[in-house]
Amino acid sequence: MAVTQTGNKSFMKIILVGAAGTIGQNIAKALSNKKEVEIIKVGRTTGDFKIDMESPESIENFFKIVGSFDALISAAGEVAFSPLDKLSEKDWSKSLNSKLMGQIRLVQLGIPYIKDKGSFTLVSGVLADEPIAAGTPASVVNKALEGFVMSASRELPRGVRLNLVSPNLLTESVADYEGYFPGFATTPGSAVAQSFIKSVYGVQTGAVFRI
Ligand SMILES: NC(=O)c1ccc[n+]([C@@H]2O[C@H](COP(=O)([O-])OP(=O)(O)OC[C@H]3O[C@@H](n4cnc5c(N)ncnc54)[C@H](OP(=O)(O)O)[C@@H]3O)[C@@H](O)[C@H]2O)c1
Repeated sequence: MAVTQTGNKSFMKIILVGAAGTIGQNIAKALSNKKEVEIIKVGRTTGDFKIDMESPESIENFFKIVGSFDALISAAGEVAFSPLDKLSEKDWSKSLNSKLMGQIRLVQLGIPYIKDKGSFTLVSGVLADEPIAAGTPASVVNKALEGFVMSASRELPRGVRLNLVSPNLLTESVADYEGYFPGFATTPGSAVAQSFIKSVYGVQTGAVFRI
């Protein structure tokens, strides 16, 4: 765990990308129960800082302003849901540039700013393991994120860790995805949030937490 000492106080500066989202709100709540944490909430249209993870320049500018930090959590990134025969080049570009490259950028561009023994935690999802109709881009992106975390975690400097949380459909999101996940198990957002807590406060690296 990376801890910043300030006088007789120690606190962790944690960047939470996607803080206003269904998963992000649960993570923010779980972190608020921790002592001595500064949460920097980030979103595309909301939060302490607004960034577009599809734009390297936007992410670079953000890190320049925020400076050093102890942990970065990403609960953000979009993918297209569409049947295979209807998937356009635009759908693929969006899916790859947002959830996959957006999260990869957060790590790569964040390396100069993360403190020794800090951590990055990204989000994938159950579609890496089980297919649904119209879910091919999500399956591709989620699997690719596993490859990124497996390999990149070995190359991170200064004891920096990198993990991936792969949630089931959240109980809170069932209505949003009605009909897409027939018979799938769901997990409450509060339980999903604890996997992010485990990644940030634990010792594991290169791990995929399936929840
Ligand atoms: N919900 C589920 O059941 C579930 C299950 C498994 C995996 N996941 C994955 O978990 C992630 C979050 O899901 P969610 O349901 O919490 O999503 P959500 O409720 O739609 O929230 C998405 C969050 O990401 C931010 N965001 C989106 N695009 C962005 C961009 N280009 N740049 C910066 N921030 C951006 C949004 O910011 P603003 O609000 O400021 O616009 C929002 O805070 C997604 O990748 C999703 O595939 C979700």
